[in-house]
Amino acid sequence: MRLRNNPKAYDIMAENSDLVILEPESLKGQLHKQFEKEQPLFIEIGMGKGDFIYENAKRYPENNYIGIEKYPSVLAAAINKMKKKDIPSNLRLMHYDAIELEKVFDKNEVDKIYLNFSDPWPKTRHAKRRLTSKAFLDVYQNILKQYGKIEFKTDNRGLFEYSIMSVNDNKMFIDDICLDLHHSDQNENNIMTEYERKFSVNGPIYKMVICFEKEKNNG
Ligand SMILES: C[S@@+](CC[C@H](N)C(=O)[O-])C[C@H]1O[C@@H](n2cnc3c(N)ncnc32)[C@H](O)[C@@H]1O
Repeated sequence: MRLRNNPKAYDIMAENSDLVILEPESLKGQLHKQFEKEQPLFIEIGMGKGDFIYENAKRYPENNYIGIEKYPSVLAAAINKMKKKDIPSNLRLMHYDAIELEKVFDKNEVDKIYLNFSDPWPKTRHAKRRLTSKAFLDVYQNILKQYGKIEFKTDNRGLFEYSIMSVNDNKMFIDDICLDLHHSDQNENNIMTEYERKFSVNGPIYKMVICFEKEKNNG
């Protein structure tokens, strides 16, 4: 997601320190203290304007949620959008680059990672920027709990196929896979993102759930 640069983006973050985690590295391994209750931690990487993470936090008060976004202007837009509504106490946002997340989260700190409509970076020379490339998967492995899952949704067939191969190359497991989410039984509990609403009119939405280690009694 690219938005026009907002010169006030950092000010907007600072003014909303009840919602935004401002110096996340200083809280490494202590992020649960940002929340009223210590409960499972779910994060979305590349949350854009944050509709998905916001709706999750409202629907599932038994979990804590952190939405992570690399671009300050995009995060500022998310803050301004959320401020018009009631902000659930189990939701926080963070301006951060996913490749650095080991500086913020301890090993085993995160229960689930959501990747929604990640930028496809179609040129081969940009493949390393894809959020399902090896370098990013290594980071996720180092912050996820032992059987923690990654849920990935996209409308981009090329990125989906690349991601399946990346999962295979990294010896991960596919827990579930769906080639047309909106016409599957999984759609019932699906929470739509901004991109999903915009692009699902053009074709199917692909989804897979992946993990680094499978529980023995689970297939
Ligand atoms: C195509 S948008 C999708 C936004 C939202 N998830 C949705 O589905 O509507 C991808 C988002 O990922 C963010 N992003 C890309 N690379 C990132 C990174 N390395 N760390 C954190 N966010 C990143 C982009 O800034 C952009 O907002």
